[in-house]
Amino acid sequence: MFSRATIGTTTDPKNAWGTTMSISQIAAGIGESVTLKLNATVAALKAKGEPVIHLGGGEPNSKAPVDAILAGTALLNTGEVRYTPASGTPAIKQAIIGYTEKYYGRSVEPRNVMASGGAKQAIMVALQTVVDPRDEVIFPRPYWVSYPDMARLCGGVPVPVDASDGLLCPSVDDIARKVTPKTKVILINSPNNPTGVMYTEDFIAGIVELCEQRGIYLIMDDIYHRLIFDGREPINCYKYAQQTGEDSKLIVVNGVSKQYAMTGFRIGWAVASGKLIKVMGNIQGHQTSGPSALSQSAAVGALTGEQSSVDTLRATLEDNRNVLLDRLKSIEGAKVTKPDGTFYCFVDFRHYEPDSMKLAEYLLEEVRVVVVPGVAFGMDGYLRISFCGSISDITQGVERIKLALAAYPGKK
Ligand SMILES: Cc1ncc(COP(=O)(O)O)c(C=O)c1O
Repeated sequence: MFSRATIGTTTDPKNAWGTTMSISQIAAGIGESVTLKLNATVAALKAKGEPVIHLGGGEPNSKAPVDAILAGTALLNTGEVRYTPASGTPAIKQAIIGYTEKYYGRSVEPRNVMASGGAKQAIMVALQTVVDPRDEVIFPRPYWVSYPDMARLCGGVPVPVDASDGLLCPSVDDIARKVTPKTKVILINSPNNPTGVMYTEDFIAGIVELCEQRGIYLIMDDIYHRLIFDGREPINCYKYAQQTGEDSKLIVVNGVSKQYAMTGFRIGWAVASGKLIKVMGNIQGHQTSGPSALSQSAAVGALTGEQSSVDTLRATLEDNRNVLLDRLKSIEGAKVTKPDGTFYCFVDFRHYEPDSMKLAEYLLEEVRVVVVPGVAFGMDGYLRISFCGSISDITQGVERIKLALAAYPGKK
C-alpha cells in the first residue's frame, strides 16, 4: 500500500508500430510522493466507511482566512480571470514584499520576488535555475520527501547528510564534510518536516557563512517558520548574510499553504537576487505560466488581511503537540524528540520494528491508523505522526497505536 511506484524501465517492449515505448532515464528514477499517495489511500478507505484515523496528514484542518476568501471571490465575481505575469501579479509581489519586510526585516523589490504554484514549485524552479546535470544538492536527513526527487528531476545528485551524533539535526561540520566541488545547492528546512525540530541560530549563521565562502546556493525552505511554539521567534537567515546584493546566492522560499491553511490554493514564493528571479520567471513562464490568478488574489487577501488566524492555528497546534507528547509517553520504548514547530513528530519505533514501512502497514491493517513511514524521509525505524487533526484523533490514534504495538509480533 505504501510502496514506491514502479513506473517502468527505459527498455519496455516494442509497441504495435515496432517502436520502443520508453520513458526518460530521469523519469525512471522518480518515485510517487508517498505522502500524496497516503492521502488518496485515506480518502478511499473513508469513502468505504472504514473508521480510519489519519495521523499522516500534511495540512491544517482549519479554514482559509476570511480575507483570502473575500479577495478570491471579488476577482471571481468580475468574471475576468486571466493569465497573470509569469512571476506573479504586481499585487502579490507587493504582498510578498510586505511579508519579507515584516518577518525578515528586509527590503526587496518586485524584481526580487516570484510567486509560484506552491512552495514546491518555487523550490523546483529554483533548483532548475541553478543545478546542472551531476551537480550535487545537499540537505539534512531526515528530509522532506520531495527533495531527492526534485534534485533528480534536474539531473542533479541528492546528497542527504546524517547527524554524526546520531540525532535528528546534522551540524554545520557534518554538512561541510559533504561539500565537494560539485556541490551547487544546500537546502535547509526549519522548522523541519518530518521532525518538527528548529535549527539553532548558530546553525543558520554557520550555513549562511559556509555557502557564502564556498559560493554555494542556499535555499531556505521557511514554509513552517511562523508555526513555532514555546514563545520562539522565527530565525532570519538574512541576519547573517554578508552578500546581500546581486551577488547573493540566498533563495528564501515560503508560502500560504501551511500558515494560512491554504494548501489547495497552491501559492508559494521565492525571494532572491534579481538575476535569479529573472531566470526563474523565464522557466516558470514556459512550464506553467503564472500561478492561478484566483489563488494569487486569495493569497494577497491572506497576506495583507487580519493575521489572527495564524495565531489561532499556532496556538491550536501547540496544544495538539502537548497532548500528543503526553500520550506518547505511555508507549513503552517509543523515543520522542520534542517538535519546536510544524505539526509533525518523528518518533523512533525501532524498539518494535526497524522496517518503518512494515510497521506503518501493520498499524493501518490492524487498527486503521495512518502514519507516514520514516523511510519516506530517508530514515527507517521512525514514523511521522501528524498533530494537525483533532485532539480526539490524536488521543484515539495514539491509544490504537499503543494497543497494536502491545500485540506486535516479534516485540522485544
Ligand atoms: C518542507 C516543505 N516544503 C515545501 C512544501 C510544499 O508546500 P506547498 O504546499 O506550498 O507547495 C511542504 C509541503 O508539505 C513541506 O512540508
